[in-house]
Amino acid sequence: MAIIYKYSFAKKIIETNTIVGNNYNDVKELPQEIIYENNEIRINLNPRDVVYGLGQSTRGMNKRGGIYSSFCSDVVMHLEESPSLYGAHNFLLIHRDNPIALFFDTPSKVTFDVGFTDSNLIRITMEEWNGACFFIKGENSLDIIKEFRILIGESYLPPLYGFGYQQSRWGYKNEEDIKNVVDKYEENDIPLDAVYLDIDYMERFKDFTINSEAFPNLKDFIANLKQKGIHLIPIIDAGVKIESGYDVYEEGIKNNYFCQDENGNPFIASVWPGLVHFPDFLNSNASKWFGSHYKKLISLGLDGFWNDMNEPAIFYTPKRLEIAIKAVKETKDTLDLNVYDYWALLGNFEKLANNILDYKDMYHVVENKKLNHYDVHNLYGYNMVKGTSEYFKENYKERMFLISRSSCIGMHRYSGIWTGDNRSWWSHLELNIKMMPNLNMVGFLYSGADTGGFGSDATRELVCRWLEFSLFTPLFRNHSSIGTRNQELYNFSNPKEFSNLIKLRYALMPYLYSEYLKALKNNTLLFTPLALKYQNDECCLEIEDELIVGDSIMIAPVYKPNTTKRYVYLPEDMLLVRFRGYNDYDTKKMSKGHHFISVKLFEVLVFILPGKMLLLTEPKNSTSKLNMLDLIAIANVNPTAKYEYFLDDGKYINSEIKKYEIVANEEKTIIKL
Ligand code: GLC
Repeated sequence: MAIIYKYSFAKKIIETNTIVGNNYNDVKELPQEIIYENNEIRINLNPRDVVYGLGQSTRGMNKRGGIYSSFCSDVVMHLEESPSLYGAHNFLLIHRDNPIALFFDTPSKVTFDVGFTDSNLIRITMEEWNGACFFIKGENSLDIIKEFRILIGESYLPPLYGFGYQQSRWGYKNEEDIKNVVDKYEENDIPLDAVYLDIDYMERFKDFTINSEAFPNLKDFIANLKQKGIHLIPIIDAGVKIESGYDVYEEGIKNNYFCQDENGNPFIASVWPGLVHFPDFLNSNASKWFGSHYKKLISLGLDGFWNDMNEPAIFYTPKRLEIAIKAVKETKDTLDLNVYDYWALLGNFEKLANNILDYKDMYHVVENKKLNHYDVHNLYGYNMVKGTSEYFKENYKERMFLISRSSCIGMHRYSGIWTGDNRSWWSHLELNIKMMPNLNMVGFLYSGADTGGFGSDATRELVCRWLEFSLFTPLFRNHSSIGTRNQELYNFSNPKEFSNLIKLRYALMPYLYSEYLKALKNNTLLFTPLALKYQNDECCLEIEDELIVGDSIMIAPVYKPNTTKRYVYLPEDMLLVRFRGYNDYDTKKMSKGHHFISVKLFEVLVFILPGKMLLLTEPKNSTSKLNMLDLIAIANVNPTAKYEYFLDDGKYINSEIKKYEIVANEEKTIIKL
């Protein structure tokens, strides 16, 4: 049993809506181990303590040795030294004998120095100490996480189709391009549940418009795809193009729904459509109004969306561009610049995007109070999503698919996230593996990375290895940037092998979906670090490249190039299932300890825990065609394996979860429910 305490600093400048539970006790003092003085919180670490948390952040699963700031950022390169990514997830868990977790409920930036300056010290600073620090104590780290998840509320549940394989690319321009993708997947017998529409489907990147030359019959097109079990998922960006006659712009101006500058005029920035205003999502009327515009797209038959650029990302503001140009003009006669002046000149342009000074020039009006954007920055993307999601829930019975790029804790109740613009780098596959448990801790169960990598060129080997991992992540999307090598699976040699891999995902769907429902309802992790499950096993403490997925299995993905073997540590005896395809596998009993195991390309290793089982069904080319009640169990029957299967209709908001008790006495058991 874990207990949550709440210590308040100065009053929050705005309601964050991050928590929903009342499972906490107000206290006037922080505990002994949390020192708060000189505008800094300090916590001493023992050398063996592991520090988890910070959801979407760079570096390892154990955050020690890094400095991070929670400030939702549009980051072009996810480098080891990048302090922030797109989410603000202010949660830290110090895993040790007497574990403790901290959560900072504030709309403002928080900086976490986790043993960077001093390896045995955590130092936490905020520019404005407003909001509260929740600290959670308990005997067991997993209990602490559970209690925290109860505090922040139940995670988002997408429709079942959101668990299917999804193909995306920035660069599909018209109906033919999409049709070509769908046809090629079909020809190559590779399952597919969704294709994404990136910004090109719009008329000059204007939200809620359709480029009718490129998509002359979108409604019919959508309906035809749906018959095949394929959904189209369009992008919606935060910025609204400034263009007279454009309804969203006109309505926003008329009702004062846009963020303001210091003089009370709509704040101007540039993003994909050129000059834009940003809806003031913190104003609930504005966020409701923006949410209601999705109706136009829903009425065409669309039932899924991705909200993007909602940190909000800024390419430049006219104000700062002018400063940069002026500096160039002033220097044009002094071409003999010293290096510092040259860097300063260049810096003016390099710092145009996402400049903090621009965020400081932007304002929200919430209940007649003018708030500086910088101070409440982390709530922006969250409130965009909240408006979208609430509109869906008020108007439709079916669950809507929704993912967002920017996020903060609390938003996990409304949508999932993808992890943003990663690259086709092996290190980003590794980052993806290590990030998943930390995302789960802060409530983001529905998440996944751009499989294969967004930027840079992917190789067949990287895409294969990445799919081998992603086929366990709830969001299973291959997305890439315009200008990079095409990474739709049929573009690589021998697509049959990819078909086998994706079919394995569909075969595993009963298990993956059931475990998702369990993690959601029981406030548990879908991806658990070994150190949290096997707390008395010293060997597990440092393992970051093996994960427990759900309740029954452990995975050990390959994330290095030119590798066909890997080291695996087994904390107990397990049953290894080596999948070469969904119906081509063999099993081997493995004993607790250290192993060096062969893993050829396109092989997926699954380790079944003692007394546990994995469920499979016959794969189909879309989730809509799967029979989730016709199952095969592969079980580790030492001792007799038991499984509690959770299943709902995969469609409606209020659908009931049915629970089936399954018992297997043999390694392979056929079950018809
Ligand atoms: C952003 C998104 C990316 C998208 C691109 C174009 O970079 O993160 O996923 O493809 O914008 O819309």
